[in-house]
Amino acid sequence: MSDQSEWVQRPASALKGTNCTAEQYEKMYASSLQDSDAFWAKQAERIDWFQKPSKIANWSFDPVDIKWFEDGTLNICHNAVDRHVEAGNGDRTAIIFEPDSPDGEVRTFSYADVQREVIRMANTLKKLGVAKGDRVTIYMPMVPEGAFAMLACARIGAIHSVIFGGFSPDAIAGRVDDCESDWIVTADEGLRGSKTIPLKANVDSALEKVSAKGVLVLRHTGGDVSMTDGRDHWYHELSAEVSDECLCEPMNAEDPLFILYTSGSTGKPKGVLHTTGGYAVWTETTFRYIFDYRDGEVFWCTADIGWVTGHSYIVYGPLQNGATALMFEGVPNYPDHDRFWQVCAKHKVNIFYTAPTAIRALMREGDHHVEKHDLSSLRLLGSVGEPINPEAWRWYHETVGKERIPIIDTWWQTETGGCMITTLPAAHDMKPGSAGKPFFGVQPQLVDNEGAELEGAASGNLCITHSWPGQARTVYGDHERFIQTYFSTYPGKYFTGDGCRRDEDGYYWITGRVDDVINVSGHRMGTAEVESALVLHPKVSEAAVVGFPHDIKGQGIYCYVTLMDGVEESDELSAELRQWVRKEIGPIATPDHLHFTPALPKTRSGKIMRRILRKIGENEFGSLGDTSTLADPGVVDALIEGRKNR
Ligand code: WT7
Repeated sequence: MSDQSEWVQRPASALKGTNCTAEQYEKMYASSLQDSDAFWAKQAERIDWFQKPSKIANWSFDPVDIKWFEDGTLNICHNAVDRHVEAGNGDRTAIIFEPDSPDGEVRTFSYADVQREVIRMANTLKKLGVAKGDRVTIYMPMVPEGAFAMLACARIGAIHSVIFGGFSPDAIAGRVDDCESDWIVTADEGLRGSKTIPLKANVDSALEKVSAKGVLVLRHTGGDVSMTDGRDHWYHELSAEVSDECLCEPMNAEDPLFILYTSGSTGKPKGVLHTTGGYAVWTETTFRYIFDYRDGEVFWCTADIGWVTGHSYIVYGPLQNGATALMFEGVPNYPDHDRFWQVCAKHKVNIFYTAPTAIRALMREGDHHVEKHDLSSLRLLGSVGEPINPEAWRWYHETVGKERIPIIDTWWQTETGGCMITTLPAAHDMKPGSAGKPFFGVQPQLVDNEGAELEGAASGNLCITHSWPGQARTVYGDHERFIQTYFSTYPGKYFTGDGCRRDEDGYYWITGRVDDVINVSGHRMGTAEVESALVLHPKVSEAAVVGFPHDIKGQGIYCYVTLMDGVEESDELSAELRQWVRKEIGPIATPDHLHFTPALPKTRSGKIMRRILRKIGENEFGSLGDTSTLADPGVVDALIEGRKNR
């Protein structure tokens, strides 16, 4: 047995009303492996299919071809919305909208309201010219209309590509171009912590580089925007006379549902593609078991719909389960550091799901922000996006949860569609810092750098050996890249890019990325993207970017920059380059450190030795390893000096 001190027992209260006890988990997990098809056929019965699938799984990781429920037809919008109305639950609250300002207007939508709004949006998209299979870019604030736009696309069979509202015009242009999206849904402006985000103006700048046939604009703040004749349309105008009927398009289970761009270790962001049937089953099932959802509960996931967490656990997971989802437009520290807790108390939130970076930031502000609110409605706390350090875990458990409710630490990725490794609230005791056990059907495997399987307690590279319904099917327009990225390092296995330890109790501890991807405040970023942004600047010759440990963000962005001949380094230039990266990618990519250096450490063949740069960024000078292959070992001493001086 392992060290007892690391265990935190699940409270007895977690068992009351649970849909999965420890015994049930063991039994179901075993059967999900032994007879995967039967297991998923049964879970899929919760979906309302137009044509029930007769085939369940049909996949191979070598060659890579993944299909689930391939002869089934369904519509995920029907499952998320209409089905509940038809079952007589139209009055149930689907979405509670809490605006940026605590004085703003709370809007509540029943399932019948959502159905009406989604139909209006769907018919407006059709009127604009959107047809089945078209890609629709959604660049929206965190308002219900963002979710309606996603559901409206799903309803008519269009493929949505949601872009986080914090991304820059260049990032929008790149994504619109990559998936050849002719249509954009946006708003005049977004609001975050009383600041306005010029969404429409950003779209206008993006459309100087790429073209679109139509832009639908939601009036949200009422701010001034310019409208281009023939291309831009106000949503309230175009939607005024559309019909209030719109059938849900029957979709094949393997028809694309959405594209979501995510960063990798090389090149530009990839358009990860999810299809309809498998994703519907996966989000429905994971939401139900992992959050142990009970009818009538208020579920709050603080993510943005621009990330996969928002797709799966604000929109598709909760709504398919007929749950009440809270959607929050604002930020945790506006108007004060108690906003999350104020909202939890105000709406009597039962399940709260957020990211470690937010927990760490709020922890630093002091317990009094939490203590002034009545959090007795909370039944379950969740964490997602990056490893949670045990200190933050304990604070979340003690100060927020008053040690009376479980925490689930859910490990997953954009590519996995939904949670993969997590404890279940009533089935498992917890270990702070460990995600816990694999969900049904998930077969993790740890391998060494040569791909050999490591058994029992071990540390290695985390792979998944068996497909699961929510798995991404391809990279939009580039299946070869999909294969290269996920299936070529360890042929025949899906490689997650994460390092991981499995302990003697079979609990998984994610240790972070083992590739050139960094995780900044739970946002995934390719160091290559930041490097390409930097070298676009005329004064920059070369750049190498690494992550370094950051108290709040988890990882910060450390940039080594060499300048063009004759350019002097200065604080002004440093500030200018930070601004430059913000403009190229977006504020989330703002460098924390810019380290000017006359040279980067390179091998004789010219390859940058990132391992050394990572160590220096981490302030670990004693363990630089072998530097003898460097073309000029003197570079390293200069870099260490430079690091010490900041
Ligand atoms: C990467 C995926 C999952 C949706 C949000 C992020 C890291 C995610 C955890 C966790 C440790 C985690 C991994 C993963 N990650 N959740 N609970 N514990 N690490 O999705 O942007 O696709 O990023 O986030 O490194 O590979 P994403």
